[in-house]
Amino acid sequence: MSIARVRSELVLASTNRGKLKELQALLAGLPVDVRGVHEVLAKPPHVVEDGDTFAANAAKKALTVAGLTHCMTLADDSGLEVDVLDGRPGVRSARFAYEGATDAENNAALVKALEAVGHHAAEGREKPFAARFRCVLALVDPFTNGGEPFLVDGTCEGSIPLTLSPRGAFGFGYDPLFVVDGMGGRTLAELSDDEKNAVSHRGRAMARLAPALEKILAARDETVRRIVR
Ligand code: IMP
Repeated sequence: MSIARVRSELVLASTNRGKLKELQALLAGLPVDVRGVHEVLAKPPHVVEDGDTFAANAAKKALTVAGLTHCMTLADDSGLEVDVLDGRPGVRSARFAYEGATDAENNAALVKALEAVGHHAAEGREKPFAARFRCVLALVDPFTNGGEPFLVDGTCEGSIPLTLSPRGAFGFGYDPLFVVDGMGGRTLAELSDDEKNAVSHRGRAMARLAPALEKILAARDETVRRIVR
């Protein structure tokens, strides 16, 4: 009997709509049925992101949700690092203004922090503020690798314009303030979804994760085929 490729459920350990949309697009084409954590758990856990690194926080989120759902789980921890701010907002990107802040409030806090260092356009500085987005993806499959997380990272280099003025209506988070290297001076919020996914920290991390995920999915496929044969 011939069977279609086995589909597996993959839970995304995030409630951030911007991330969910991007991760869903990046996973399209793989034999996975992607579910947000809120679809699988009536009360998604609040994971305290107290790690010093993106990797520690991503692993914690993936392990917590996989422990509750027993499903293959993918978590993303990401953020913006600005050189002149010594890498801030970094792991605190989602709560740079305060815990629970909106994207607009975090963007305003970023502009304020850059104004405070006194190097913006009005101060005669010439070069934009070098910055990068960083993303760590953690994949946990309870039946692979003893349930230990598989970690990959990706970065997206760029800068914050000296004008400190946002541009663009797409994306989420700090996208309107981040000019991507090599994309004609456009901010991430001025790129289409496909363009952003092709150059983003998240897209690059996913490209690194794909072979490991494919391997897990192929092993599941093989197991089911053995049973059905
Ligand atoms: P996390 O949920 O702790 O990983 O926080 C991620 C935060 O980093 C988001 O709330 C955004 O503020 C920021 N961030 C991460 N990725 C992006 C992106 O692709 N565009 C814009 N902001 C991002």
